[in-house]
Amino acid sequence: MKLAVVGGGSTYTPELIDGFARLRDDLPIGELVLIDPDAVRLERVGGLARRIFARQGHPGRVTLTDDLAAGAEGADAVLVQLRVGGQAARLRDETWPLECGCVGQETTGAGGLAKALRTVPVVLDIAETVRRVAPDAWIIDFTNPVGIVTRALLDAGHRAVGLCNVAIGLQRTFAGLLDLPPASLHLDHYGLNHLTWELAVRHGGPDGPDLLPRLVADHGERIAERLKLPPALLARLGAVPSYYLRYFYAHDEVVAELREQPARAAEVAAMEERLLEMYADPALDTKPELLASRGGAFYSEAAVALAAALLGRGAPGTAPGSVQAVNVRNAGTLPFLPDDAVVEVPARVTARGAEPLPAPTLDPLFAGLVAHVTGYETLALDAALRGGRDRVFAALLAHPLVGQYDRADALTDRLLAHNRDHLPWA
Ligand code: G6P
Ligand code: MN
Repeated sequence: MKLAVVGGGSTYTPELIDGFARLRDDLPIGELVLIDPDAVRLERVGGLARRIFARQGHPGRVTLTDDLAAGAEGADAVLVQLRVGGQAARLRDETWPLECGCVGQETTGAGGLAKALRTVPVVLDIAETVRRVAPDAWIIDFTNPVGIVTRALLDAGHRAVGLCNVAIGLQRTFAGLLDLPPASLHLDHYGLNHLTWELAVRHGGPDGPDLLPRLVADHGERIAERLKLPPALLARLGAVPSYYLRYFYAHDEVVAELREQPARAAEVAAMEERLLEMYADPALDTKPELLASRGGAFYSEAAVALAAALLGRGAPGTAPGSVQAVNVRNAGTLPFLPDDAVVEVPARVTARGAEPLPAPTLDPLFAGLVAHVTGYETLALDAALRGGRDRVFAALLAHPLVGQYDRADALTDRLLAHNRDHLPWA
């Protein structure tokens, strides 16, 4: 089996490699190709990847290249995990929206729109090359904003599934709190990427009893503390929101905080520098502890499970066709959304693709916001594909965290000014 990772020089990659090495029975990789235009990163990350495989006795070969077509040729699956413009562009996305009183975040709000505009054309180009050199490959998209990027890929007819680690992270957290094995918990995880709620936490599978009321009653304080939301709000929602919902439920509070704190991008850039130094050490042959301070916990497990299922190998510890939370076409799953929207929901994953399970009815408390953000995502994708100030403005006006014309105008000006290098039409 051949797997290619586009953006393989990411400092996150050792997390992925560690998962590939540990879970090699589920996903027997013969060749792993790390593809990246940055030669220094590729060499350091690739060197560590080889040492992790060697230490764990993984028989797979790790190859490194900056040539996408050569690297992806004949691959069974291609993981795409990149950041157009790197942490420098992210830092800008996290900064200028604050000048307009709006949250500065890499995937939510105006910063997320900037990221979508920079990213969609690049990922679509990559996918065209993949289609040419590996027509049967599955594309697993980790690249943010995952919902919009996945929709772009599916609209262009690619064999793509979008993936995020929020659901698997919550599954692990809940399992720890309930003292149960993670695989025994099925999450009724519904919404859009980075806009989801756990509506139920079922024991033993999708039809199992719901432990969420017990979880919130016994551990609500701890969960709320992690989400930085008041415990009473969890009880009132009757669901556990992902931490991205804090940007909505506590928007103004977050803006005030972000104005006082260093940007996450600056923290991450410092961590990356340190990580790259560590990776250069030929004695290092495990993923360093520091990597745990990044937001990507468990993403390797999610990636292995998804790739294994898409390649017809079942997922770790489960029968073929395992259920996983992924980004797929709505196709009636949430009946109040257009069929061609992309939603993040539990789906049965097989070699034929990801098929959403029948969904529960979403309370208007959640459905309203999901519909609203879907409208924004539709306009954001249109702006990413066709460019133009008016389309950027329309997407921002449609965003529930913007909404007012004067703010949308001010944000549009800043977005364009800060992203000219990446947007040929701006
Ligand atoms: C979570 C999200 C990812 C995001 C990451 C950021 O894992 O699901 O989509 O890329 O956090 O983490 P960072 O350490 O870069 O802030
Ligand atoms: Mn994510």
